[in-house]
Amino acid sequence: MIQRPRGTRDILPPESRLWHAVEATAHRVFQAFGAEEIRTPTFEHTELFVRSVGETTDIVHKEMYTFADRKGRSLTLRPEGTAGVARAFLENALQDRPLPLRLYYMGPMFRYERMQKGRFREFRQIGLEILGAASPLADAECLLVLFEFFQALGFQDLVVHLNNLGDPPDRAALGHCLREFFTPHAAQLCSDCQRRLEENPLRVLDCKVPSCQELAHRAPTVEAVAGEASKAHVAEVEELLRRLDIPYQRNPRLVRGLDYYVRTVFEVVAPQWGPSTVICGGGRYDRLLADLGGPDLPGVGFAVGEDRLVEILPESFRNAVFGEARLQLVPLGGASAAALELARKLVRQGVPVDVEVGGRSLKAALKRADKLRRRWVAILGEEELAQRVVSLRDLTEGAQRLVPWEQLAQALAGGQNREPARHQGTGSQH
Ligand code: HAM
Repeated sequence: MIQRPRGTRDILPPESRLWHAVEATAHRVFQAFGAEEIRTPTFEHTELFVRSVGETTDIVHKEMYTFADRKGRSLTLRPEGTAGVARAFLENALQDRPLPLRLYYMGPMFRYERMQKGRFREFRQIGLEILGAASPLADAECLLVLFEFFQALGFQDLVVHLNNLGDPPDRAALGHCLREFFTPHAAQLCSDCQRRLEENPLRVLDCKVPSCQELAHRAPTVEAVAGEASKAHVAEVEELLRRLDIPYQRNPRLVRGLDYYVRTVFEVVAPQWGPSTVICGGGRYDRLLADLGGPDLPGVGFAVGEDRLVEILPESFRNAVFGEARLQLVPLGGASAAALELARKLVRQGVPVDVEVGGRSLKAALKRADKLRRRWVAILGEEELAQRVVSLRDLTEGAQRLVPWEQLAQALAGGQNREPARHQGTGSQH
């Protein structure tokens, strides 16, 4: 049998309901803050990612799905969303619209990563980019939108890790300091970091190999070389976060794995999964549009890893999603066509219905309802049909009564499933 490729997943019902609910929440919250959805291609010219994410990053160096099309052009499945949004912004001259522009997106991204928990080769991101605003207010707004999104999902314990990456000259100065610091210890670095030391010493700070991490912990931080402008910018972001009661902590080691950032960078870590499981990353990228040949316009944004987010959704959100009351309608004898008519009527009134179209006996239908943890089963036999009623059985109470069709929606209003079923996540292949 053919199996799915390593690192991909099938998102199956009922788990897919959680994904849908998370995405619906993102649409609602992001739009409420004035953002509009943008959809960009899942593959782009390879050059776009090399120039924006950066040639010396792990993503470009070893994680991209790059292929030649039939005409020999080099294309890459997008490893992240910001580069495509920036490209689309420039290609469609969105700078001519009133700025800043708030654009959000959701969809699959692709990275050829080593497999481990919470890491996939095809994964989904939900992201927001604010283009054309240089002020620290825009950074704070990004985090505000993010935390309103988290709050709407029921999260209460998430903390932002924040750092200042400085402006480009600061980054160059830091690169110099780091090279001086690491060179005497080069033998202790992994082979990747020995290369990074030559190409872009900042990337050594991001390495996950313990001996490199141990050295990185003693290395000079960006703050030591950052100029006044970036320091003042990030201080203002922090001030705004305090005003907004958004919990954050300064993390001077945070450098992020993409090259386009300046000044503010941040990540949100899921406490359940230890310090290396990041559910959201973002920051400011004031040079990106210009580096891609566009106008000198700033940007700031974030992307949430939806696969990781769904895995750790608070119980309250899962219960609300899985607890939705759904009527199971069981026709008996010659009532099948009438059951479909009744189902249409109920759905138009906003009552979700499952009609028993499998021809099950009443006993088998009740067994199925029990398995699905349904609360309500409506039985429509020929007698009920004649009286335009159903026998409504409440599986929680074990009670049954006759309810006229017109009163069914009302009878079910506010009802919940008996107890929300706990569903297993769809795992990745390891
Ligand atoms: P990133 O940190 O590379 O940033 O990715 C953002 C989030 O995507 C991560 O925090 C993580 O939750 C999720 N993620 C990344 N790789 C994987 C994977 N292999 N499997 C599962 N989840 C993953 C960016 O992509 C930037 N474009 C974010 C940004 C937007 N910066 C400014 N605007």
